[in-house]
Amino acid sequence: MKVSVLLPAAGSGERIGRGPKAFLRVGGKTLLEWALEGFAWADEVVVALPPGFRMDGLKTVPGGQTRQQSVFNLVQAATGEVVLVHDVARPFVVRSAVERLLEAVRATGAASLVVSVPDTLVREEAGRYGEVIAREHHRLVQTPQGFRRELLWQAHQQARAAGIEFTDDAQLVRWLGHPVVLVEGDRRMFKVTYPEDLILAEGLAQVWNC
Ligand code: CTP
Ligand code: MG
Repeated sequence: MKVSVLLPAAGSGERIGRGPKAFLRVGGKTLLEWALEGFAWADEVVVALPPGFRMDGLKTVPGGQTRQQSVFNLVQAATGEVVLVHDVARPFVVRSAVERLLEAVRATGAASLVVSVPDTLVREEAGRYGEVIAREHHRLVQTPQGFRRELLWQAHQQARAAGIEFTDDAQLVRWLGHPVVLVEGDRRMFKVTYPEDLILAEGLAQVWNC
């Protein structure tokens, strides 16, 4: 089954504040280069780039104003039967987790990597310690998320028509009424989001061997 990997890389990296995250470097490589290497095995890779950026030798689409709009453009350009959508902000791609995900996608049509919540989870109530939420019933969502391309394309088209914006693709597909299976992810696939995450990423880059 042909697999297309879709890399939304068009974010502006506001929380880090050093320009588009895809082009920040850890371990001598940009986050985009890390992700491209992690998916070098894929039949097709498509990248959504920030406005004004071009890259030769890559299949690219223009990014949108939101992640969902960027992924819309990516799915539209994809040709694989299965698509894996992966945030370029997650440079460390753990092959074994991706294999688990692909197996679930082939079996069910839609799956997401998730990890358990390691800390106590509490509701903030005006700066005070509020109700504790049962962390065993919650998961942190990672990428890649995988789908049959037709299913994800249908979800994106309908969400756009309805004017609804989601922060990931599993929400879109669930909104369409299709179940999304949870697959164990890997903490090394964390998202580089805040400045200190770059320090963690730099450390992991030094010992990376997946
Ligand atoms: N993304 C995208 N197009 C957008 C917004 C986000 O392709 N219009 C991508 C980012 O490049 C990233 C992924 O979606 O790979 C997850 O987004 P996030 O971590 O929020 O990155 P940024 O939006 O760049 O960061 P920030 O929210 O801090 O500005
Ligand atoms: Mg963002």
